[in-house]
Amino acid sequence: MENIRNITSDLIYMGVSDRKLSLFEAVYPVIDGVSYNSYLLKDEKTVLFDTVDKHCFEQFFENLEACLCGRNLDYIVINHLEPDHSALIKEVIEKYKNIKIVCSQKAKQMLFQFFDFDFDIEQNFHVVKEGDVLSTGKHELTFMMAPMVHWPEVMTTYDKTDKIIFSADAFGSFGALNGNIFDDEVEFSSKLDEYRRYYSNIVGKYGAQVNMLLNKAKNLEIKAICPLHGLIIKENISKIVELYSKWANYEPELKSVLIAYASVYGGTQNSAEILANKLAQKGIKNIKMYDVSMVHHSFILSDIFKYSHIVLASPTYNNCIFVKMDQLLSDIISHNVQNRTFAIIENGSWACNCADNIKKALDGLKNIKYIEDKLTIKSTLKKNQMLELEKLALNITDDLK
Ligand code: FEO
Repeated sequence: MENIRNITSDLIYMGVSDRKLSLFEAVYPVIDGVSYNSYLLKDEKTVLFDTVDKHCFEQFFENLEACLCGRNLDYIVINHLEPDHSALIKEVIEKYKNIKIVCSQKAKQMLFQFFDFDFDIEQNFHVVKEGDVLSTGKHELTFMMAPMVHWPEVMTTYDKTDKIIFSADAFGSFGALNGNIFDDEVEFSSKLDEYRRYYSNIVGKYGAQVNMLLNKAKNLEIKAICPLHGLIIKENISKIVELYSKWANYEPELKSVLIAYASVYGGTQNSAEILANKLAQKGIKNIKMYDVSMVHHSFILSDIFKYSHIVLASPTYNNCIFVKMDQLLSDIISHNVQNRTFAIIENGSWACNCADNIKKALDGLKNIKYIEDKLTIKSTLKKNQMLELEKLALNITDDLK
């Protein structure tokens, strides 16, 4: 049975929520599920915006048929070809054989990498470039390219008539939709952690490209953002754009300290906990601590996008950095984190080399600095090192202020 909802009198939400998926993109835990958003515009012509993941096949086609009410499907707009949105394109095209496929040149090329079609679809393509306009009757759709937000073929579509932007992966979030598909039907501020986790992990590397999209969109009147995942945003457009601008520029949201530690037998953890205690006593609020062995790196990376000061505490392992810390560093580097201040606690029972190796690993990140001095412990923190720890806390606090 169909499960659809009107956004405007002409536009219908026909996406599907998935609460069975464990790992989005085979990497990211989605405890609250994820939604694959698809939309149908009913004008003089009918226009489908993207499809959904393949295992949502049945619900998707029930929704599509209900939306169309017996009408033909004239256009499919491919804003993003990643299979969580494109998996059913082949079936759609083979079902509606005269359909026009509206997409970027790059998407056309990539479509054949993913699919073999039963018939020649060359005549079906309506390839668009930056600024091209498609009239569907009452509605006028303008296409804005958004390469690398999050794949190279990505574009966004602006409906000038209703002032709605179909933003592809931009402004999306993890989390299934629970009947409430609009941001003004939920406590939006409680959702922001998952918006940040989605942004930082999926698009975070491409801040420059996100900025280009924000620049293109800044002069548009926008009444609603329709992303490919998560809520349709109407009430919180300026809030989410402001956050996107911060994230795209790698600016911290919060001047405070995140402590990410790895600890095999508790020595490093003990130092990290005492440091947090000292920071708190010096007035630092909202300190966040993560045991990197216990929390999926996507959550830690997300908060690294939020916090200004990052303490990394790790033992030596295989004569290098502890494996889980090493993975986090790799994630920090591959997501292009910038403009952060780091402090280091290193622990080594016999060959202590973590601080140097951490600095080497982070070499190349733009505009980062280190708090001096690093704290070196050998197995466990000793009483005579409390002054050193106090000094580290003081230096972090001074830098924050
Ligand atoms: Fe949800 Fe980049 O796809």
